[in-house]
Amino acid sequence: MQYLPIFTKLDNKPVLVVGGGDVALRKCRAFLKARASVTLVAPEFCSELLEHASNNEVILTQAYFDESHLDGKMLVIAATDNESVNNTVFELANKRNVFVNVVDDQPKCTFIFPSIVDRDPITIAISSAGTAPVLARRLREKLETLIPQHIGPLATLVGSFRDNVKARFKHFADRRQFWEGVFDSSVVSKVQVGDTQGATAQLHGMLDAKAEPEGEVYVVGAGPGDPELLTLKALQLMQQADVVVYDYLVSDEIMDLVRRDADLICVGKRLGNHSVKQEDTNQLLVNLARQGKKVCRIKGGDPFIYGRGGEEVQVLAQHDVRYQIVPGITAAAGCSAYAGIPLTHRDHAQAIQFVTGHCKKDGQELDWPSLAKPNQTLAIYMGVLKSPHIQAQLIKYGRDASTPVAIIENGTRKEQRVVRTHLGDLAQQIEQHHIVSPALLIIGEVAALHEQLAWFGSSAQISSFAQPLTDVA
Ligand SMILES: C[S@@+](CC[C@H](N)C(=O)[O-])C[C@H]1O[C@@H](n2cnc3c(N)ncnc32)[C@H](O)[C@@H]1O
Repeated sequence: MQYLPIFTKLDNKPVLVVGGGDVALRKCRAFLKARASVTLVAPEFCSELLEHASNNEVILTQAYFDESHLDGKMLVIAATDNESVNNTVFELANKRNVFVNVVDDQPKCTFIFPSIVDRDPITIAISSAGTAPVLARRLREKLETLIPQHIGPLATLVGSFRDNVKARFKHFADRRQFWEGVFDSSVVSKVQVGDTQGATAQLHGMLDAKAEPEGEVYVVGAGPGDPELLTLKALQLMQQADVVVYDYLVSDEIMDLVRRDADLICVGKRLGNHSVKQEDTNQLLVNLARQGKKVCRIKGGDPFIYGRGGEEVQVLAQHDVRYQIVPGITAAAGCSAYAGIPLTHRDHAQAIQFVTGHCKKDGQELDWPSLAKPNQTLAIYMGVLKSPHIQAQLIKYGRDASTPVAIIENGTRKEQRVVRTHLGDLAQQIEQHHIVSPALLIIGEVAALHEQLAWFGSSAQISSFAQPLTDVA
C-alpha cells in the first residue's frame, strides 16, 4: 500500500498553501471544509482568496515562499505554476517531516486528496495512489449512486444514542447485537422518509426493550425488464429486504440484484394460471410485515399501472402496516423508448391511452368509440390473446385498418422483438410470429416511426440485443 488511508481531524490545525490562484483556492476550500487554520503564501492572490481573507477565514501572506513559512505547519500544499518553487516546497517540507502535496505531481506527494463520497458524517475516500485519478473518480460516481442520501442523517441519529447504548449494555457483544438490530429495523426507513421523530421514538423503545420489531412493505416497480432501468430507490430497497415477494413479470436479471440472503416468494401470475390468489398475496404481505419482516413486494413495470399495487396497498393501509411505494418505468414507456416509438408526436398523436386487453370477469366492454378516435396512441397491455377482438372493434368504430401497429415482445430485454404491421393485420401477425407474453401493442401513426428511430439495431446497442429486429411492414 503506497498511502495509508487515515482521516485526520484538522480543526484549527495550522496548514499552509503555497500559491494564490485557482488551484490554491480549490485546495484552500477543501481545508476550510475541515475547519483547518489556513495560511496562504504567494506574491499575489485571486479575488476569491482576498474575499476569504476579508471574512477572516484565511490568512494571506503576500511574499515569495521561504522555509520559515513552514514553521509550525502540519501540512503543506504546493499549488503554484512554478516547478522550481514547487520542488523547493517539497524538499524543505520533506526535510522537516511535514506532510506535503505538490499538486499534479504524485511522486512529490507524501499525502494525497482522495475522491470523496460525502454523506457527512459518513465519508468514503477512494484513491488510486495517483495512478488513475479518472478511474477513482468513476468509482466515486458509482458509489454516489449506490449510497443513499439518508445514510448521513442516520449516522448522526444513531451517533446521538451511542452514550445511552453504552450505559445500557456493558458488553461490547451486546452493544453490537443491539446496533445490528437497529440497522435491520424500520428505524432506517423512517430516517429515509424524513420521519426523524418516529425513528428517534423507535430507538428509545428498542433501548428500553419495549419495541417489537416493526415490519414494513416496500411496493416497488421494477420496470419492464432491463435492470438498468431500475430506480436507485428500488435497488436500495431490494437490497434492504428480508423477504422478496415477486411475480413472473420481474426479469431474472433484476431478481439477481435482490439481497443475497433474502427469502424469495413467488406469487406469480400468468393468464389463466393464477398460482396464488390476489387475496392470498395481500394477506401474505400483511402477515410477513406483522412478523417484523422488511418485505419487498416487487412488480414488473409500475406497481400502480395494471399491477394490482393499489389493491395491495389498500389492504396494507387497512391493517396499519407501514409501506413505501416506489414507481417504476411502465411497459408502455420502456418498450416504446427501446423500440424508437415516441408515444406522442406533434404531427401524429396528441393523446395516449393506456388500455388493458384483459378486463375484469364481469365482461365490461372497453369504450371502443373513444379508443377508435384518430390522432391518439393506444398502448395495450395484455392484449395478445384478445387481439382479434381488439382489431375488429377498433375497425368497427372507425379506426382505419391501415393504422400502423407495433407489437413489442419482451420489451427492453435482451430478447426484445418488434413486429411492425397495421391494424387490419394485427391478429394474424401475432399468430404468425408466435408472440408470447409479455408483449405490448402500440396502435397509432407513431408506430411507423419505429422504422426511422429504432436504435438498438445500430451502433453500440446491437451487441446488447441478441435477436435481430423483425420488421414486417
Ligand atoms: C399485469 S400487466 C403489468 C404491467 C406493469 N405493471 C407495467 O407498468 O408495465 C402485464 C402486461 O404488461 C405488459 N408488459 C410488461 N412488461 C413488458 C415487457 N417487458 N415487454 C412487453 N410488454 C410488457 C404486457 O402487456 C404484459 O402482459
